[in-house]
Amino acid sequence: MDGNGRWAKARWLPRAAGHRAGVEVLTPLLETAGELGVEALTLYAFSTENWARPETEVDSLMALFLETAKDKVPELNERGARLRFVGRRERLPQGVRDAVNEAEKLTGDNDKLDVYVALNYGGRGEIVDAARRIMRDGLDPDSLDEATFARYLYAPEVPEVDLVIRTSGELRVSNFLLWQIAYAEFYVTETLWPDFSPEEFRRAIDSFAARQRRRGGV
Ligand code: IPE
Ligand code: MG
Repeated sequence: MDGNGRWAKARWLPRAAGHRAGVEVLTPLLETAGELGVEALTLYAFSTENWARPETEVDSLMALFLETAKDKVPELNERGARLRFVGRRERLPQGVRDAVNEAEKLTGDNDKLDVYVALNYGGRGEIVDAARRIMRDGLDPDSLDEATFARYLYAPEVPEVDLVIRTSGELRVSNFLLWQIAYAEFYVTETLWPDFSPEEFRRAIDSFAARQRRRGGV
């Protein structure tokens, strides 16, 4: 969900207003995901690198997560969405951690749409965390294969990523789901996240559906 800051700057607004505008588009987009038959979707909300932002911005983002959890979780729950969070929870403020745990508990039995929120998430960190757990479990190195490794990722049940949508025109991966995107297709748009509409979401899915995926074959 990139481009909130630029969206705000273009309107002479503080960056926090851009993040707030970015939250506003979530409900219509998740509704569209349901209509399109999307089974699972991950929102990259806060990376392990985002702590490097000014403290005021980090604080306003954490406050916004809390507010968004209060506002949107009951609504998502009613729509049958199952919420899961991926990332390192330890460093998140206690209030955010509580909200994350509550949201997972509340929505755990829903089955219409799986919504993953990447919060204090880093792809390399996820791989390191998996390796740590594998070592702690004392796995035999010769028995380790890709399927076994994948079971140690934050959300082992998540299907392989089909499509990555990157807003605001950046042509990079930014430490997002490194393991899971091995064969993902990309849709990059200049549109800033707060302007990303259900119509464009549909166009992204259409463009994905028209592609031929060969996965290294012919
Ligand atoms: C993405 O928007 C939101 C978060 C990382 C939380 P940015 O804040 O990165 O927006 P730009 O890149 O400055 O426009
Ligand atoms: Mg950015």
